[in-house]
Amino acid sequence: MSRTFRIAPSILSADFACLGDEVRSVIAAGADWIHFDVMDNHYVPNLTFGPMICEALKPHAKTAEGVAVPIDVHLMVQPVDALAQAFAQAGADYISFHPDASGHVHRSVQAIKSHGCKAGLVFNPASSLEVLDWMIDDIDLILLMSVNPGFGGQSFIDSTFRKIEEARKRIEASGKDIRLEVDGGIKGENIRRVADAGADTFVAGSAIFGKPDYRAVIDGMRSALA
Ligand code: DX5
Ligand code: ZN
Repeated sequence: MSRTFRIAPSILSADFACLGDEVRSVIAAGADWIHFDVMDNHYVPNLTFGPMICEALKPHAKTAEGVAVPIDVHLMVQPVDALAQAFAQAGADYISFHPDASGHVHRSVQAIKSHGCKAGLVFNPASSLEVLDWMIDDIDLILLMSVNPGFGGQSFIDSTFRKIEEARKRIEASGKDIRLEVDGGIKGENIRRVADAGADTFVAGSAIFGKPDYRAVIDGMRSALA
C-alpha cells in the first residue's frame, strides 16, 4: 500500500516569543501540519498553551499561496471535553487526546467530531492499544508516543516500533482511512525506520526548531522517506 507522508513540526520547541513567525517559517520550509502540544501541569508535569494561542495562530497556519495547513492539537490534559470543545472553536483541525485522561472515551470522540474536527487517540509508551478494539471505527488518527509526554528533546523509545507495527495491522484490518502518527525523538536519522514500521505522519519538535535551517531538516527527512 502506498502512503502519503506528513511531517508535523511541534511548536513546543519553537521560539515562544514569536510563534506566528515560527509557524509561517516552518510552513515555508515545507511543514505539512502544525503540531500543537497542550500540557496542563496535571496530566503531564508541564504547562504550555491554550485555545487562545491556537486561535491567534490560526491565520498564520497557511502557505504563502493561502492554502490552509492543518493544526494538529495534541491534548495532554485531564479532563478532556471542555478543552477539546474550546480548541474546536479555536480552529483546530485534528484533536487528539489520551484515553486514560477521559472518563468516557467514546463520548469525547463523538464530541470532537460533532464540531467538525477529526478525532485522534494517543497512546503513551506503556499503554496498550486495546481501546482500539472498540474505537477504531470512530477515529481519524492514532498518535503513538515514542517518549513519555511532557517534554521535547527526549530520546525515542525503541519498543514503539512494535507498537507501530501492531497499530498498522489494526488500521489495515479496519479498512479505514486512519493516519498513524508518531511523536517524540524523531529525527532525520530514525524517521525511515519509523516509516518502515508503518507510520505515515511524523511529529518533530527539537529536530526542526533546534536547527537554524528548517528547510534543510525537513528536506532531509523527506529524502530519508523517499
Ligand atoms: C511531548 C510532545 C511532543 C514533543 C516532541 O510530550 O508531545 O510533540 O514536542 O518533541 P521532540 O521532537 O523534540 O521529541
Ligand atoms: Zn505531541
